[in-house]
Amino acid sequence: MKVQLTQKTSMKSPVLEVAILKENQLKRVSDFIGSEVGIQLPSSKHKLVEGRLQKRLTILGFNDFESYLNHTLETSAGELEKLHLIDVITTNKTHFYRESNHFDYLEKSAIAELELMKLNDARQELNFWSAGCSSGEEAYTLSIVLNEIASQKRNFLFNIFATDISQRCLEKAKRGIYTENQIDIVPISLRKKYFLRSKNKKEALVQMGTELKREIKFMKLNLMDKRFSLETKMDVIFCRNVMIYFNDQLREELVSKFENQLVDGGYLFVGHSESLNGKKTILKQVSPMVYRKV
Ligand SMILES: C[S@@+](CC[C@H](N)C(=O)[O-])C[C@H]1O[C@@H](n2cnc3c(N)ncnc32)[C@H](O)[C@@H]1O
Repeated sequence: MKVQLTQKTSMKSPVLEVAILKENQLKRVSDFIGSEVGIQLPSSKHKLVEGRLQKRLTILGFNDFESYLNHTLETSAGELEKLHLIDVITTNKTHFYRESNHFDYLEKSAIAELELMKLNDARQELNFWSAGCSSGEEAYTLSIVLNEIASQKRNFLFNIFATDISQRCLEKAKRGIYTENQIDIVPISLRKKYFLRSKNKKEALVQMGTELKREIKFMKLNLMDKRFSLETKMDVIFCRNVMIYFNDQLREELVSKFENQLVDGGYLFVGHSESLNGKKTILKQVSPMVYRKV
């Protein structure tokens, strides 16, 4: 007997109950995230937070936000879930060569200045830090740019530190595997030189080569920590599209920590909408969204 495709069924699909995040529960989340990570969650973010956290409720099997938040924020068993909560709330958008004029500035102006300083200090290496590196594209772009310089200059040695609060992002960054679409923006000659293509043609994946990975140290670091645990003084800090989510006070505190972390003459690069104009800082602007400790 053939089944009639047009036949209507009288069975109704079950209605799934979706948990609703109440105003006071949003406040509990935003108090936690604000004090732990620095990210502000005003009521305009209500739907976004609700949507992102609903996934965690489903995974853990909670029916309502109250029980989820009690478990996560009030019990010792919730410590691990706190990390997932931070992971889902942070915005990790990034891409290779993002705000590419910064990499041009680095290559054409900053490196020559830093090389002179290095000679004066009789140092061997330059140190770079991608602070809030997300899934690694910023650090790998830095690595490409610096490897290219190293191929033209003798004794050009460097280290890249790349840190983020999100464990999920750091794992992706360490794997260094991206889709072909994600590397579209990288010039073909550099793709050929530095990336490994997946053997499985259907997957369309590429892996960062060993030259790019060698100098990068990915580490977990919360920029809100009172004192950074990085011992190395930095020649260049990229902290782009991170402070945008912080309030003015936290931004000023972070910039002051960066001032201490930079060598004299070192550079801080911030995102295009994160000007330090009007902020208390000893750093001097040397190019759009590029600041220097002079
Ligand atoms: C939008 S991404 C920016 C990535 C990259 N810097 C760029 O410009 O493309 C912001 C990153 O900052 C990280 N972040 C936010 N607050 C942080 C904190 N307190 N400590 C460390 N990382 C943080 C997030 O996890 C996220 O991966």
